[in-house]
Amino acid sequence: MSTLRTDGDTWDVTASVGATAVVVAAARAAETDRPDPLIRDPYARLLTANAVTGIWKAMLDESMFAQLESADPGTSAFIDYVRSYQAVRTHYFDGYFADAVNCGIRQVVILASGLDSRAYRLAWPVGTTVFEVDQPKVLGYKSTMLAAHGVKPAVDCRHVAVDLRQDWAAALRDEGFSSTAPTAWLAEGLLMYLPADAHDRLLEQITELSSPGSTIAVETPASYPCDRRAQLRQRFQRAADELGFEQTLFLQDLIYHDQDRAVVADWLNAHGWQAVTQSSRDELRRLGRWIDGLPMANDKDAFADFVTADRR
Ligand SMILES: C[S@@+](CC[C@H](N)C(=O)[O-])C[C@H]1O[C@@H](n2cnc3c(N)ncnc32)[C@H](O)[C@@H]1O
Repeated sequence: MSTLRTDGDTWDVTASVGATAVVVAAARAAETDRPDPLIRDPYARLLTANAVTGIWKAMLDESMFAQLESADPGTSAFIDYVRSYQAVRTHYFDGYFADAVNCGIRQVVILASGLDSRAYRLAWPVGTTVFEVDQPKVLGYKSTMLAAHGVKPAVDCRHVAVDLRQDWAAALRDEGFSSTAPTAWLAEGLLMYLPADAHDRLLEQITELSSPGSTIAVETPASYPCDRRAQLRQRFQRAADELGFEQTLFLQDLIYHDQDRAVVADWLNAHGWQAVTQSSRDELRRLGRWIDGLPMANDKDAFADFVTADRR
């Protein structure tokens, strides 16, 4: 269940799940500005500068971040964690795509692409097609903003404007997707925004569309118990009130906290894939990006896994 969502709800980047695309792109912008970035996303700031709202602005503004740190160190640690986590996640899945194209895959599908700029910033081999799937207004915002600044895709990039709870496979085929060509799939920052039935159906549809030699990469949904969600929400609200930010985006309210969804790696292993799971907590530590002082530090379930799998 989610407190704010309805079947068939829609959004642009200013609202609901669309606004989460701005938060993660803002984290990539912050990472790009670091002296030692794990990834560089030269388009993230352009896409987010005027779109990020409330306490999330502290991700891009160090003086706001310092204010937040003195008002509530737990909340500033959480914001810092979101920045680090997104950098680590992007780094991991950039590596996944590099491996996929090195293995000869030339068809790529980025589900819930949001403000992901991989089609613009990665070096794709000639002959690659990248399909970006998301809601129409989210895709429209990204392409309009980038085109207005003269930024063009670095690959044959096709937009599939559709809701992933609907018949997205037909829409993908209509844009030229071939189920006989090996595909590299990515579902990053998506599964937690799908109810359990759409979550499991998505895995089935991907499997039906995947010829042998295909690969998939998935960020699993992290899970917070109800009381921790309420605490996090209260902390955010209190810190925003104290600093005078208008806070409208509470990520936990947009997530489906359904427990009865498939466990991704187990599901894939049982359906013709060979899956490997990487703990994001370990990856944060390995890359020196663990943040001390996190309110949920000892709760293993609060951290997603990165699952990759090959189609047998
Ligand atoms: C947290 S953002 C992640 C965006 C992108 N994957 C990234 O990492 O930058 C979540 C994205 O999922 C998309 N999304 C969530 N549910 C969706 C649905 N049912 N249909 C289409 N897109 C969806 C949102 O529009 C948003 O762009």
